[in-house]
Amino acid sequence: MITTRKNRELKEFNSFGISAKASEFIEFDCKEDLKEIFESIGDKKWEVISGGNNILFASNWDGVLIHPTMRSINTISESDTDVVVKVDGALEWDDFVNWCTDRELWGAENLTLIPGYVGAAPVQNIGAYGTEVKDIIESVEMFCVESRKFLTLHNSHCQFGYRDSVFKGLLKHAVIITAVTFRVSKVANPQINYGDLKLKVEELGGATIKNIQNAIIEIRESKLPDPKITGNVGSFFKNPVVEHHVAEQLKNKYPDMPVYITPEGSKIPAGWLIEKAGWKGSKDGNVGIDPRQALVVINLGGATGEEILKFAHTIQKDLKSKFEIEIEMEVNTL
Ligand code: EPU
Repeated sequence: MITTRKNRELKEFNSFGISAKASEFIEFDCKEDLKEIFESIGDKKWEVISGGNNILFASNWDGVLIHPTMRSINTISESDTDVVVKVDGALEWDDFVNWCTDRELWGAENLTLIPGYVGAAPVQNIGAYGTEVKDIIESVEMFCVESRKFLTLHNSHCQFGYRDSVFKGLLKHAVIITAVTFRVSKVANPQINYGDLKLKVEELGGATIKNIQNAIIEIRESKLPDPKITGNVGSFFKNPVVEHHVAEQLKNKYPDMPVYITPEGSKIPAGWLIEKAGWKGSKDGNVGIDPRQALVVINLGGATGEEILKFAHTIQKDLKSKFEIEIEMEVNTL
């Protein structure tokens, strides 16, 4: 069924809690509806909104917002070692993680509590505590806007990178993700080498799937503000990846700066740079930096998208002048 509403308030559709309006808001509950929706949209400006956990409304949306609501989980095949499962795009990501951990199916547990829908997970290749969603994605089903056909893209064609994929590049605005197929494992495969995770897991009694999930929940809850209480989008910025010699030069100047060597280059935690520059816990009007995790920009109440963007640009400029490093925003601005 397709439901259309005009002048829809979007506050409940973005975790920043920004008040903005969409001239047209279309909700649908069956992927085939997309064909009819796109027949009716014509030349109007459109965008998909799922959980709104990584979106910043810079102003009102003068166009159509399309909101999917399909949430089923279907097991496609099962072997002695693996289960292949196809999940609709509008299921809450953490509902899928719980579905896996309840069945002792490994691969998604480190990504617990990441807010958002399943369909958004491949777009920015969500990652946390040493794992990324690309490691369990088999394929992505998508609606191609121009041809009005459904296609399935295998993992190897998704161009997954650090918080990146083909859905942010070549296929941006050309497709709508309708479902994701995952391969999760019946064989235990604990990934607990990130930071203090191992210690926490041991405190809870060892590396069972539920202990790992609970340890991550504890760590996340201790550092990341709950968007239901304080508007935020998790990491607002991406960690910059720079050439190794650039990181080495900075490391000489700041020996306490953490650096992670990755195949793409040296990754420097933007949280560290923001904290070092003195922004952690700072406030400017209705916007601020979280006092526990410097990578998180928070809405202190009533902030507008414009205010948040202005604050973010000030921080970007300051880091550029202090460290000669450009940090990119992770959030999508509409
Ligand atoms: N750090 C600071 N000060 C801070 C925050 C971090 O100095 O206020 C330094 C510390 O040295 C710390 C290091 O940065 O050891 C890494 O911090 P953390 O483990 O919190 O991870 P992060 O790099 O800040 C990334 C992801 C998070 C994810 C965590 C854990 C990005 C952009 N963010 O953050 O993802 O939960 O790792 O794996 O890669 C998200 O994308 O919304 C998100 C929360």
